[in-house]
Amino acid sequence: MRILSGIQPSGKLHIGNYFGMMKPAIELQEQGEAYLFIANYHAMTTVQEADALRQMTTDVALDFLACGIDPDKTAFYRQSDVPEVHELAWMLSILCPMGLLERCHSYKDKVAKGITASHGLFAYPVLMAADILAVNSNVVPVGRDQKQHVEVTRDLAIRFNNTYGEVFTIPEPSIREHVAVVPGIDGQKMSKSYDNTIEIFSEGKPLKKRVMKIVTDSKEMEEPKDPDTDNVFALYKLLSTEQEQSELAERYRAGGMGYGHAKTELLEKINGHFGPMRERRAELAADMDYVEDVLRAGADKARVLARETLGKARQAVGLE
Ligand code: TRP
Repeated sequence: MRILSGIQPSGKLHIGNYFGMMKPAIELQEQGEAYLFIANYHAMTTVQEADALRQMTTDVALDFLACGIDPDKTAFYRQSDVPEVHELAWMLSILCPMGLLERCHSYKDKVAKGITASHGLFAYPVLMAADILAVNSNVVPVGRDQKQHVEVTRDLAIRFNNTYGEVFTIPEPSIREHVAVVPGIDGQKMSKSYDNTIEIFSEGKPLKKRVMKIVTDSKEMEEPKDPDTDNVFALYKLLSTEQEQSELAERYRAGGMGYGHAKTELLEKINGHFGPMRERRAELAADMDYVEDVLRAGADKARVLARETLGKARQAVGLE
């Protein structure tokens, strides 16, 4: 089974990203032949500053390698190192009705948010289809917001195969349904747009300050507390064993423990879990040649498949 997913760089990673998107993406390498790429062509639709795009791309590469991508198991690459996808995107766009793209929620949402309705933004799903079809992926794990784009991909692949003959594998979306709900420090869903995140690579004082700011109710030290409605406990749960969770829950219910104490326990868990990844990230950042080698090798692997697919497609449409 071949599995492909793309990550759009989006700034500093937080605990919500880690459990929602990153951890599942890294675990793909245990489930099949995994391809994972940094969608820097797609990122251009929202980032039009060269240094910022370069920096974000590097950051994602470091983040994912530090958090557990094994380059021997996952072909990890930059989308822009597989430019074959553009030729494929052109072929797919020939068969893509305007209406199919006009119905895409993601496009409509972005325009509603004030992003200029450019051709690139409109054609975004066609390039995504090319990413997927270029490597003949069977499964495409994505978040709920990207499901429609995988459906567009299936539609385009079917149209192409019907028009020109069988070239593409029809991929299946695999939607991450059971991802943990991660509350931010204000109790809403953790998200950069709410400014309520805890970043996984922050440390020391700034990290501590953030954890101490987590909103709780105003029960006194002595009072019994309900772990199931508390944000600190919800975060603690993500990072601890069942045994540790029931021990801390016990102390909540018994009273005599303040929220400050629970926050200290949480901080320890955060440092325990992300500390080694921070160290690994710093090591990688000091050895960018290695990171570059990994990305190149990943792209080489993806490119072999992309060239093969493109060759078939060029033949099928009559360019060769
Ligand atoms: N659009 C995806 C996102 O924002 C990223 C992406 C680009 C992607 N190409 C892809 C995901 C191909 C899966 C497959 O999350």
